[in-house]
Amino acid sequence: MEIFLDTANLEEIRKYAKIGIIDGVTTNPALIAKEEGKDFKELIKEICEIVDGPISAEVISMDADGMIREARELAQMHRNIIVKIPAIPAGFEATKALSKEGIKTNVTILYTTNQALLAAKAGATYVSPFIGRLDATSTSGSDLIREIVTVFKNYNFSTKVLAASMRNEIYVKDAALAGAHVATIPPDVLEQMMKSELTDLGLKDFLSQWEESQNKLNNQPNYGDQS
Ligand code: G3P
Repeated sequence: MEIFLDTANLEEIRKYAKIGIIDGVTTNPALIAKEEGKDFKELIKEICEIVDGPISAEVISMDADGMIREARELAQMHRNIIVKIPAIPAGFEATKALSKEGIKTNVTILYTTNQALLAAKAGATYVSPFIGRLDATSTSGSDLIREIVTVFKNYNFSTKVLAASMRNEIYVKDAALAGAHVATIPPDVLEQMMKSELTDLGLKDFLSQWEESQNKLNNQPNYGDQS
């Protein structure tokens, strides 16, 4: 499964890119808005310079023509740009037109298997089911991923399932078990994934035993020393 970082924060992106576990980045207007004072396009360009992988940038138009216009501008900024398009009727129209032009898309804010089916038929590169937000309405997000993965397999769609809106590390595990091709993960959740209290305890135990053995060695009397 590919791992994307779900943030527009350059510091966080640099931190996890350095570790080498990031395949791409997803942003949206709300994440961009959090980075106060930064120009949207400049920020996206900087992200593209840090991570050499798919970088999602979202359109804000509500009509197909506007989405297509924005998408063309975004796509020409960098070869790795994936244009995020909302899963609304105008979005499917825009996705179809953009796919004919070879512009890669990520159909987002997606909550149903049928929306995913239509996005795939329109030629979307990715679909982004919002798992955490769906779970909050008492509907299983991992079931949705499983259904979409099954439908895409049934009809050999090349569209990838990108699990989004991940609330904690259990969401990532569930998305992986359900067969998602990608999970986009907020930095705090990625941090959780790297840690286990048992690992910390085990490591502490190993190091204290090592230190104890070294102290014993250093305190042994030196019989060769006659002075
Ligand atoms: O890319 C953003 C998507 O993952 C939504 O996340 O946390 O706003 O539900 P959230």
